[in-house]
Amino acid sequence: MDMSQPIGPTPLDARPDGLVGRGVDRVEGRLKVTGAAPYAYETRELRNPAYGMIVEAAIAKGRIRAIDAAAARRAPGVIYVMTHENAPPQGKKKEQVGPVLRGPEIAHFGQPIGLVVAETFEQARAAAALVAVDYERAEGRFDLRAAMPGAIVPKQVASPPDSSLGDFEGAFAASAVKLDVAYTTPVQTHAMMEPHATIAGWEGDRVTLYTSNQMLNRGQVSLASVLDLPAENVRLVSKYIGGGFGAKLQPQADAVFAALAARVIGRPVKVALSRQQEFHGSTRRTDTIQRVRLGSDAEGRLAAIAHESWSDTTVGDDFYETSANVTRSLYAAPNRLTRHRLAHLDLPLSSAMRAPGEAVGMLAFECAMDELAETLGLDPIELRVRNEPSEDPEKKVPFSTRQLVPCMREGARRFGWEKRGAPGSIRDGRWLVGLGMAAAARLNPLQPSSASVRLERDGTLTVRMAMTDIGTGTYTILAQIAGEMTGLPLERIRIELGDTLYPKAAGSGGSWGAGSAGSALYVACDDLRRQLAEKAGIAPASASFADGRIAGAERSAALADLAGDGIEARGEIKPGALNKTYSQYSFGAHFAEVGVDADTGEVRLRRMLGVFTGGRILNAKTARSQAIGGMIFGVGAALTEEVVIDRRSGTFVNHDLAEYHVPVHADIPSLDAMFLPELDDKANPLKSKGLGELGICGAGAAVANAVHNATGIRIRDYPLTLDKVL
Ligand code: MOS
Repeated sequence: MDMSQPIGPTPLDARPDGLVGRGVDRVEGRLKVTGAAPYAYETRELRNPAYGMIVEAAIAKGRIRAIDAAAARRAPGVIYVMTHENAPPQGKKKEQVGPVLRGPEIAHFGQPIGLVVAETFEQARAAAALVAVDYERAEGRFDLRAAMPGAIVPKQVASPPDSSLGDFEGAFAASAVKLDVAYTTPVQTHAMMEPHATIAGWEGDRVTLYTSNQMLNRGQVSLASVLDLPAENVRLVSKYIGGGFGAKLQPQADAVFAALAARVIGRPVKVALSRQQEFHGSTRRTDTIQRVRLGSDAEGRLAAIAHESWSDTTVGDDFYETSANVTRSLYAAPNRLTRHRLAHLDLPLSSAMRAPGEAVGMLAFECAMDELAETLGLDPIELRVRNEPSEDPEKKVPFSTRQLVPCMREGARRFGWEKRGAPGSIRDGRWLVGLGMAAAARLNPLQPSSASVRLERDGTLTVRMAMTDIGTGTYTILAQIAGEMTGLPLERIRIELGDTLYPKAAGSGGSWGAGSAGSALYVACDDLRRQLAEKAGIAPASASFADGRIAGAERSAALADLAGDGIEARGEIKPGALNKTYSQYSFGAHFAEVGVDADTGEVRLRRMLGVFTGGRILNAKTARSQAIGGMIFGVGAALTEEVVIDRRSGTFVNHDLAEYHVPVHADIPSLDAMFLPELDDKANPLKSKGLGELGICGAGAAVANAVHNATGIRIRDYPLTLDKVL
């Protein structure tokens, strides 16, 4: 089905206290905590793998004059060394996945310049250190601010890079109250628990990659292009994944190298990126410079909104951070302007990282709103309420649902917002205490997805799709949907994901995973229900499914008795007209309380609350986990996370988790998230919306606004480390 019509009443509506929505424990949780759920690097499906270690460039710009791998080739256990001088021929770059070792040119620090394959991991690592390289260095460009004048209008992706409505400049100039501020956000890195890893093995001209990847079908197509194979000759398997956040939306060098090397040596090869290699050798979130201008009347009614963003990526790629896209849909104002500009630098590839666009865009914009509220002497919630739009202000279509105001009101009540004082006015011992808030909004996309279900003769149900679970709870919510739709208990449902042999699925990305994959499963189960009703001689409309049975007005039957040799059904979901005729976002509001040490400038989060809406909640527990995980990510963005670029050498100064500071337990004392009831009948048949990225959107801005409220100091350069606070 496609989403061309709003969804009427469904079996999920009929049982609001049914399986869907319940805080069911993760069905694979036990496998994970007992170590029985293998990650890619640990799979034993391909026997006797050799170990590959990537060799990285030690300069950021220039070329390899000479590379001497003789010592590495002679080292104990070494089977094969690949450099640009002997790399196998490869096909074309597809999306952001390109051939490796194309030549002697170095485009960024940490670029792979070789692969050493050996009998053991230790031998490969030791030999990799023996590869000697003579470089010819060139001047590189590593500074976004310096590159701003030459920044280009990026190529259009989903939406145009620029937008305008009315006369921003005129209306801004004529506004009674004006704000014109610039915010900067640093390079960030995904820091997922499981680094990129692949084991590849060949049978004839078919390759199978056990890899850590969020979107298998897209990865299959990209790798097929690079390996110059038909897509059906490339199989990706990704059953359990230790976090993704965007760096695993597309295969990285580990996958390309493993496949190439395995073919050359005629034996499976496994390659992982080390934690250090993740920083330079994977993708990053770009740094941004963002200018926000707001013009309002004395009562805080916005007449003019402008949000301009500069970001950077490596030379030859088109990715840009869509920081200002969300601003197009956030608040009402007749005169508007958004612009994105892109600089090409000699730095590693930029790509999507959790809530690309909104995550850093709202770090700037939601603080600018706070600044305007202060200038006006208005409560920041009240400022937002006064500019609540009746429809999407730029697309000029209705919102499918929009409960930003109820989220702010509920959050304010629960958090004790009325205790907020004037900036710098509340003190608790040596701590200056402040409260801050910010809105959350994240686009809710739907992606094509398909699923198969099969009722087996023993009365169990097998669900298959090339969907992934990156730790978000996909296995669990799919089991809940299948259980609710068929009336089978969870223990009789088997969810098989993570294999391109299964029906094509949306994958985990862009907050579309649960809605898209779950909807495909819903449609498949709906068809299975129809087939079962027919077999049982029950009118489909009157059939109900519970306790492993189908029941109608006059008769009932056990599903196991109807299964015969098995009954199969398939389901498919696609976006339709409603995805254009309605503006679809998930919304929320963040509230943060911080303490700032009056002597040292140290910022400590004291408590935080997020109140969100995301359509139907599929699992109360995993939804909350998604929300608080996103919020913690936001706390990191506000206070600690920064990849520091050495502007002279083009290296990242910090490239491990000891120096790239993600929040730890001690940084998150009390944090909670909740959801207001909502159903979105324009979004998908589940009436759900995406939650994977909503929690990060605006979270850091609430923290930064709290720091301002505590101290009276406004810092516009993230993260808010103590050197800037003092
Ligand atoms: Mo996301 S940045 O689509 O994993």
